[in-house]
Amino acid sequence: MTFVRAIVGTQWGDEGKGKIVDFLAKEADVVVRAQGGNNAGHTVEANGVTYKLHLIPSGILYKEKLNIIGNGVVVDPKSLLDEIENLEAKGISTKNLKLSDRAHLVMPYHNILDEEIEKTRGDESLGTTKRGIGPAYTDKAERTNLRVCDILDEEEFIQKLRNVYERKNRILTQVYHYTPMKFSDILEKFMVYGEKLKPYIEDTIQLLQDRIKEGKKILLEGAQATMLDLDYGTYPYVTSSHPTAGGFCTGAGIAPKQINEVVGVVKAYTTRVGKGPFPTELFDETGDMIREKGFEYGTTTGRPRRCGWLDLVVVRYASLINGIDKIALTKLDTLSDIPKLKICVQYDYNGKTLDLFPASLKVAEDCKPIYKEFDGWSLDEIKKAKSYDELPENAKRYIEFIEKETNTKVWLIGTGAGRESIIVKD
Ligand code: GDP
Ligand code: IMO
Ligand code: MG
Repeated sequence: MTFVRAIVGTQWGDEGKGKIVDFLAKEADVVVRAQGGNNAGHTVEANGVTYKLHLIPSGILYKEKLNIIGNGVVVDPKSLLDEIENLEAKGISTKNLKLSDRAHLVMPYHNILDEEIEKTRGDESLGTTKRGIGPAYTDKAERTNLRVCDILDEEEFIQKLRNVYERKNRILTQVYHYTPMKFSDILEKFMVYGEKLKPYIEDTIQLLQDRIKEGKKILLEGAQATMLDLDYGTYPYVTSSHPTAGGFCTGAGIAPKQINEVVGVVKAYTTRVGKGPFPTELFDETGDMIREKGFEYGTTTGRPRRCGWLDLVVVRYASLINGIDKIALTKLDTLSDIPKLKICVQYDYNGKTLDLFPASLKVAEDCKPIYKEFDGWSLDEIKKAKSYDELPENAKRYIEFIEKETNTKVWLIGTGAGRESIIVKD
């Protein structure tokens, strides 16, 4: 029987979605990315090798699985080709990778605009990954963007590029004082990309629906996370797509009723890259210690990640929005050897308690986390445990508190970066 499982980030990204998808892909037939672009960075450690994935789903490490880049993704073709080349050089076949003909293209001017718009924001900059993601989704919504199917048809590409080229050039030259882009340069490059990507391009909606009809097991891989969602996140400090279960439907070509299970990936503490509110952020040596122990540096940009305590206001909010059935809790090992740990259960906003994340950033900035304190555990104890029962009592207390407060069962527990370091709790 077919089974569709969605893997969604519950915090501000980098929860370890890649690792969880890699673990679950073993049992799946198809892995689909539905949104975002090469702003994502998913690190997977398997068989002693570290893989860094940006656009390609984390199921690619299994040769026989079908991996789909869905229609909701924005694709920088050069970045995709580089990623394909890097994987092939490591002996990973991309024969079973398919790219949706409906996916939108990140064009060269999108990267420039991302950088320049950030500059003009000055102190209010968002801290984007500068991969052109925001401008590409802007053009998609404006209905002026080019899509993957256009790079397979020179005439279409020329006509569509002509529709936007003059205006983009005017913005680049007159607003940002760039030298004008050459039409022929873009055309030439993209026709080469088209030639190279042709074997991968397909109507992936048809492909996915056919697989579902055949009874296959499908994994929907989220990039980014709930708090970076354009609607649900800490707007405007968000990304430009919908990294939530609803967004996976539009971005993969699947109906809401076809999703059987939603797994929320929760890091045992919280991190954030870029700017925006983060109520449980730590500015002291504990925050620095978590960053160093957890190697909390961006997979895509290398930026140090802001670190803080686990925030259950955020996870509770994510659980409701996504309809999370089960939690995959990652990086429990990173919290080892810290004598006292804290979990935020609610916010105090001027004497009023909040259970869910507020809309107003001004309110969010003034929210004081209400913490519950927990005794820690040692790394030795965590590393020794091969089953839930073998975990240290204090770690179990930490986990069961998360279950109680979010009303959601913890299913998988990450105790190390490697593929094998996962405990399954029933
Ligand atoms: P993603 O963007 O959600 O896929 O997460 P990233 O790959 O950007 O960041 C998560 C990092 O934590 C990666 O380097 C993973 O290899 C690593 N990781 C994932 N789960 C665990 C875990 O349980 N323990 C440890 N120590 N590392 C983990
Ligand atoms: P994964 O899939 C963490 C953040 C950026 C910035 C904001 C907007 O690895 O979890 P964008 O370039 O998307 O316009 O930047 O979103 N951001 C991420 N943070 N993990 C990610 O992806 C992210 N993708 C975007 O840092 O704050
Ligand atoms: Mg990441």
